[in-house]
Amino acid sequence: MRFALISDVHFGPEARHQGKLRKLTHQSEALVADFVRRMREEVSPDVIVNLGDVVEDESNEHDRARYGRFVGLLQEAGKPILHVAGNHDTINLTPAELGELWGPGSQLTYSRDVSGVHFAVLRTVEHRGERIELPAEQLAWLEQDLAATALPSIVLMHHPVSEMRLEGNRWFEKRPHLCRVVERRAAREVIEKSGKVLAVFNGHVHWNHFDVIRGIPYITLQSLIENLDDDAPGRAAAAYAVCDLDDRRLVVSVYGAEQLRYQIER
Ligand SMILES: [Fe+2]
Ligand SMILES: [Fe+2]
Repeated sequence: MRFALISDVHFGPEARHQGKLRKLTHQSEALVADFVRRMREEVSPDVIVNLGDVVEDESNEHDRARYGRFVGLLQEAGKPILHVAGNHDTINLTPAELGELWGPGSQLTYSRDVSGVHFAVLRTVEHRGERIELPAEQLAWLEQDLAATALPSIVLMHHPVSEMRLEGNRWFEKRPHLCRVVERRAAREVIEKSGKVLAVFNGHVHWNHFDVIRGIPYITLQSLIENLDDDAPGRAAAAYAVCDLDDRRLVVSVYGAEQLRYQIER
């Protein structure tokens, strides 16, 4: 089966970081439209995953409209979609509002089976400026959810639960507490003990990264709209991933300006 991922599209106003243009928000709609066209015409995945941070938060009204616009664009691919909540998505939107944007009655923590693969989606929570939490209820839920499936599983969340080193990361080198999940060790224990998880995917860090801990790959996908240059006018990463899974291996191909491939033998 094949699944595709996109992350941190940040629809919204220009937002400078340390005075420099780091997120090419003005290109995000066009880049998403191009991603959708590729999905429809070339890649044809069984499912598309959105790893979160759809909006560059501005206000409830703007964020709702922009999130709706993103969902509308993604639906043009004609494929099932799995959404993950990002920290920017729930600054001005309540969990209930975000769930409604995903589809009537949607929960932010959920699982879904697609083409013989079990996808478990967690909602990591930023306590603004303090820490990133994976609440105990969600860990308990994940343990039960993985115990209840017989299928090979993929775990999705916005923030990383690996021990990713952040030296050289423009966003989080000096703020690792706003990047990695506090409860990451406990989360990895649940993931390892299940014996079913093939890989864990996250966004948020705005670069591509690959960690392996106790045989589990933890894969961070670059932001679609990250500026690969230092400042304006800028050059978009245009990153997305296509994953091919069969009985023998998982191959993760990252496309865009920085192309990568990870091959994981089962
Ligand atoms: Fe982001
Ligand atoms: Fe984020």
